[in-house]
Amino acid sequence: AKLEMFVDELPDMPKVYGFRLNKDGAPAAAHVTIGMYQKKWKFHRDIPPTTVFAFGTSNETATVPGPTIEAVHGVPTSVTWENHLPSEHILPSDPTIPTATPKLGGVPTVVHLHGGIHPPASDGHSAAWFTSSFRSTGPSFVGPTSYYPNIQDPGNLWYHDHAMGLTRVNLLAGLLGSYVIRSPRVEDPLNLPSGPRFDRHLVVFDRSFRTDGSLFLNSTGNNPSIHPQWQPEYFGDAILVNGKAWPSLRVARRKYRFRIINASNARFYRFSLSNGLPFVHVGSDNNYLRRPVTSTKFLLAPSEIADVVVDFSRSTTDSAVLANDAPYPYPTGDPTDEFNGKVMKFVIRKDETTDPSRIPKRLMAQPPPAAHRAVKTRYVAMYEFESETGEPTHLLLNNKTFDEPITETPREGSSEIWNVINLTEDNHPLHVHLGLFVVLEQRELEDPDGFKDCMTKKNDAVACRLDRHATGKRVPVPKYEKGWKNVFKMMPGYVTRILVRFSMLKTGLAYPFDAKAEPGYVYHCHILDHEDNVMMRPLKIIA
Ligand code: C2O
Ligand code: CU
Repeated sequence: AKLEMFVDELPDMPKVYGFRLNKDGAPAAAHVTIGMYQKKWKFHRDIPPTTVFAFGTSNETATVPGPTIEAVHGVPTSVTWENHLPSEHILPSDPTIPTATPKLGGVPTVVHLHGGIHPPASDGHSAAWFTSSFRSTGPSFVGPTSYYPNIQDPGNLWYHDHAMGLTRVNLLAGLLGSYVIRSPRVEDPLNLPSGPRFDRHLVVFDRSFRTDGSLFLNSTGNNPSIHPQWQPEYFGDAILVNGKAWPSLRVARRKYRFRIINASNARFYRFSLSNGLPFVHVGSDNNYLRRPVTSTKFLLAPSEIADVVVDFSRSTTDSAVLANDAPYPYPTGDPTDEFNGKVMKFVIRKDETTDPSRIPKRLMAQPPPAAHRAVKTRYVAMYEFESETGEPTHLLLNNKTFDEPITETPREGSSEIWNVINLTEDNHPLHVHLGLFVVLEQRELEDPDGFKDCMTKKNDAVACRLDRHATGKRVPVPKYEKGWKNVFKMMPGYVTRILVRFSMLKTGLAYPFDAKAEPGYVYHCHILDHEDNVMMRPLKIIA
């Protein structure tokens, strides 16, 4: 039976405050404990309760997505992440890809704050996993508590599992949530729509369900003789927002701010509103833009975040569907259909309301990127490998597995140019832990096959004369993506030049961890099925 759309109300996830208020009302550092629990979750009125893994301060309050962590700029938050999961996973995985394997059983997990600038030991490195009661721990495990200084600009982050080889199944099971850093001093004067009613998170992901309500993930791989379970991309039949399939939200005729997080494993969304209302972008992944940018359609890759204002007072209709028309896989896959082409519905109230919010002309001054200051140029080539039958078997960055020695060792405080060369057919969202980058240029490869041949043999962009090949069409970076980002869509057959700034990790902060134990960072494709097998490389910042 097909599910009826727009029957569930959009939930708001519970909040966990990553600060406390002093007697004088000033925010001060706080410590919170958040656990991972197995429980049942209702994804839709007509789907029986689904067994999930959920974040929460207790089993009873745990949700999918997890609670939204509210942090204040400049006020540190420490979180003790606890694993209360059972001995068996609820989803199939694949031991033939590099996978966290606890000797004593249990579900390995480790939490990464995506977009966060924090000490390496708190980054949630893939090898820093732990199981229930820390019975087993990975080789890079340093402790149960992560320290988030919140010294970066206000903006949108999210937290999610990052365990080696299990990220795709742990997120599918529900281990993800929103994190927001607010700076009242800087943001209140902007007078954007605010408060829990008018400033909302929309966490979007796709899932498939069996008729008994359980989550469905193929237990047989596309190349079972090579990888018994792994599939190159997970796509679900239902589109969910804040843990409900095709929910609806009643809105007043006024402006709303939506922080839209694409928490899908592999699905891109190209969002538009069915009544043509525009989106006014005020931020791109974790930072404010300099100025608002209007669009009627925009593309959001896995792990990207859009921060948009929609003004429903300008609607000529009394409802609007948030629609999606991104092919899957993106960009050359299947077109969307009547199910995955719809995301949620806004039911717009008839009566007028007063709306004191506004969209200012200027948002936040951002230091312009200084490409000439880059101290190093690096090349990151994306490869996909296929079996004899033409089925994808695995993907790599620079033709190296995760375990090969670290090749990226930027200096703290420096900027580098990275040329990301996509030699595959798919768009890959590349995410760099620890810092922010600006997209400088996207340039098509001329004679991509010749260049790819050379790269496949030599894996050396300089020797293969990238300079002579990266001479094709230039595709402009969309205006709403010109701010500082932590992830960007790498177009197939293109070289994307980014300027990465490794300057956010302030030295001199008193980290509660032994610096010698630092496990370092990673960079990877944020299509989780790619990241797990094994489009991820280590990264180490040198002081
Ligand atoms: Cu959102 Cu390394 O991840
Ligand atoms: Cu990828």
